[in-house]
Amino acid sequence: MGSLCFCRHIAFIWLLLCLLDKGALGAKFTVINKCDYTVWPAILANAGSSALDTTGFQLPSGGSRTFQAPPNWSGRFWARTGCNFDPNTQTEQGTCTTGDCGSNQVECNGGGAHPPVTLAEFTIGSGGSQDYYDVSLVDGYNVAMIVDAVGGSGECGSTGCIADLNEQCPNELKEGNGVGCKSACEAFGKDEYCCSGTYASPATCKPTLYSTMFKSACPKSYSYAYDDPTSTFTCTAPDYTITFCPSTRSQKSARVSPPETGIGIGTGGIQGADMPMIVNSSSWFSNIFDGFSPKSYSCSTSLIATLTILIFLYLHFS
Ligand SMILES: *[C@@H]1O[C@H](CO)[C@@H](O)[C@H](O)[C@H]1NC(C)=O
Ligand SMILES: *[C@@H]1O[C@H](CO)[C@@H](O)[C@H](O)[C@H]1NC(C)=O
Repeated sequence: MGSLCFCRHIAFIWLLLCLLDKGALGAKFTVINKCDYTVWPAILANAGSSALDTTGFQLPSGGSRTFQAPPNWSGRFWARTGCNFDPNTQTEQGTCTTGDCGSNQVECNGGGAHPPVTLAEFTIGSGGSQDYYDVSLVDGYNVAMIVDAVGGSGECGSTGCIADLNEQCPNELKEGNGVGCKSACEAFGKDEYCCSGTYASPATCKPTLYSTMFKSACPKSYSYAYDDPTSTFTCTAPDYTITFCPSTRSQKSARVSPPETGIGIGTGGIQGADMPMIVNSSSWFSNIFDGFSPKSYSCSTSLIATLTILIFLYLHFS
């Protein structure tokens, strides 16, 4: 079989798969652990969304794992830390120091996160409608986390919190010996911090000294319940990487500025710091097909690459 023929087959299949593309595929999530310790990521699908391949798993330092979510999926990801699961029990029973989901095992099976915990929240669109995503500190903080949209069209900003808030946490919000930093709502339970009671609207629930401190350390994160405008991101048909401890070096340099300065957009945070590496899965395709640059498509490239290879092998050997 000549190479021209080979290219034509692949080009055809490529286009076909691109046409079937993202609206039908949903979004691919890649969870990456750049912490120098093991984390146990957990995934909770919202009511009405199906569970992904797993609801909780172990991810060693340097590890990554990928999930496909269907269109219209919504849910959240977080990292559990300091877990101790006993391999000698049938269900590997155990608990985690932060982010525990109450399941008493590695899988969370629909259990939510025990605060304080950094949450990545997603609402995936379908058929060309946009996704919404944010990183929330409304339930406190346990691990630095960045969410990157890969491919997709629209604004598609990176969001999250690079700063080490455990190091910078005020004493009154510290969890245990500094493994997490509580939200003021959790620590004090007052309406003004929880946006409840007479504070249950955007007009009455304003930033507080504490939410302002979170915001200045992590300008792109959601710092309290009505913190929408600067913290919710949109993108049409991307895939996502969720990186825990995206940059150890930057954690050290990002500092909390004093609460008196108001909402400190742009101090510390993402802009000045190193972005996590994004695996450039489209590059070898770009080289083969200069004509249809995959960068102009929002194809889920690695899925398509796999399918293309399978179909090629089928054509070649049949
Ligand atoms: C996604 O939700 C929209 C709006 O509710 C609906 O019209 C559409 O059919 C859904 N798509 C899929 C693939 O479930
Ligand atoms: C990905 O690969 C393409 C083609 O080799 C290159 O032009 C582009 O700069 C790369 N992008 C990143 C983010 O490395």
